[in-house]
Amino acid sequence: MNIKSICCIGAGYVGGPTMAIIAKYCPEIKVNVVDTNPERISQWNERDLSNLPIYEPGLKEIVGKCRGKNLNFSTNIRKYISEADLIFISVNTPTKTKGIGSGQAIDLKYVESSSREISKYAKGHTIVVEKSTLPVKTAQTIKAILDASVKEKNDLGEGKTFSVLSNPEFLAEGTAINDLENPDRVLIGGDDKEAINALANIYSRWIEKIKVLTTDLWSSELSKLISNAFLAQRISSINTISALCESTGAKIKDVSLAVGMDQRIGKYFLNSGPGFGGSCFKKDISNLVYISNHYGLFEVAEYWQKVLDINSWQQSRFVELIVKTMFGTIASKTIAILGFAFKANTNDTRESPAIYICKKLIEEGAFLKIYDPKVKYSQIKKDLLCDEQKVERGEWIYSNSIYETFNNADAAVFLTEWEEFELLNWEAIATKMRKPSWVFDTRSILNMEDVKKSGINIWQVGYGN
Ligand code: NAD
Ligand code: UGA
Repeated sequence: MNIKSICCIGAGYVGGPTMAIIAKYCPEIKVNVVDTNPERISQWNERDLSNLPIYEPGLKEIVGKCRGKNLNFSTNIRKYISEADLIFISVNTPTKTKGIGSGQAIDLKYVESSSREISKYAKGHTIVVEKSTLPVKTAQTIKAILDASVKEKNDLGEGKTFSVLSNPEFLAEGTAINDLENPDRVLIGGDDKEAINALANIYSRWIEKIKVLTTDLWSSELSKLISNAFLAQRISSINTISALCESTGAKIKDVSLAVGMDQRIGKYFLNSGPGFGGSCFKKDISNLVYISNHYGLFEVAEYWQKVLDINSWQQSRFVELIVKTMFGTIASKTIAILGFAFKANTNDTRESPAIYICKKLIEEGAFLKIYDPKVKYSQIKKDLLCDEQKVERGEWIYSNSIYETFNNADAAVFLTEWEEFELLNWEAIATKMRKPSWVFDTRSILNMEDVKKSGINIWQVGYGN
């Protein structure tokens, strides 16, 4: 089957970059990215490419080249579904916030509404691809919704047919373009060989065939959840060891290096920090816990729940440590917050450890000055403000300049590993801060000796004081 037109439902962190790469490598295929959110679509269509809704290194150059040629962003969902030979469902799959499974199960309402739209507007034969991360067996639901319209005929007496595939995405934010161009593997699950080949042919334009792994639908859906669970588990594991290092005098980076040099273990994902953030690890593991309980596998559920518990514990122990170190109270003290994104090289703050840590510091009475090179004031306001007046009440302010952030601060807490934080002039900063001054480096990115030489006290994760 020759794919001429693709529609991607969901113009988010996955849909946007993934479709930009397909458009780049398949110039003869029309790639239409649709979304119900008109603001997001108009940001994707911004003339000034630095105003795209997502900051991702390398993305704006590709969008700049392909947009207006074979890459199109639109709110006209009906039109582009009906033109498509292949449709990616790339919508958000958040954790349910109420009802059965609240706090654990995935809310499939966006997947369901996308499937209903496809069912209504698709024409002829359409390959429907699950790109979103979904609970195992979701394809069954999608198929059931699509099948409901299979018997319908149009005015010309033509019917419609569907093939459903699972093709989870493994990109990480901040490195999305490189991850999409050089993935470790592409996973395609399904039972329709022709549909699998059609999708595999798209990827084969820039990815070696050997990296394309095909499985049944359920193995593909589950593999995505488990990949995220294993990655998150490594972070929780190393974070427990960071506390042990602080207590014993062992150095966390030496331990990570020594452990990771064993090829059976591997060197990646062994950086201790303020716990994993991002839109997916927490929701996907919560979902794994929910599914395990659903199948009566209570020990399995408990095991994975512990990965989440350790993540929360790491964040709360940092807050306690900050308060304890600063003579047991931070009330009316000024704390500079360096970094708000959940990791470097992204403007995404979803589930960022900074949200929890900042809220707790404010609760303890501190006044925060928050700086992040890519996260906007409006986003931090959304994340921190359950109640609209917090900025006005003087609980925190947004800082536009990194050095200004330290003015009159009693302490500085580094929460994101932005490269620019590694090159700070500590002599200059020491003159700006109130004494005694502290630095809390939750990512161990600073040169401890440089900070100490300037007269500032420093604590680093996995090292202590
Ligand atoms: P996102 O929130 O950034 O984007 C999803 C978009 O879908 C939103 O713009 C929303 O308006 C749109 N949408 C929702 N329902 C719609 C509908 N019925 N019709 C049209 N548009 C609709 O989410 P994301 O980060 O791109 O994640 C999407 C999926 O990919 C999730 O399942 C996530 O778990 C998975 N995933 C995310 C990442 C990541 O790094 N963010 C990586 C791999 C996989
Ligand atoms: C993660 C996975 O890495 C992707 O493979 C997956 O596709 C994606 O989730 C998803 O399904 O959404 P992402 O969340 O974008 O990608 O970023 P990561 O690099 O995995 O970082 C996640 C969190 O873990 C960040 O808060 C990061 O700071 C933290 N982390 C990461 C550590 O604390 N230590 C590490 O060694 C690595």
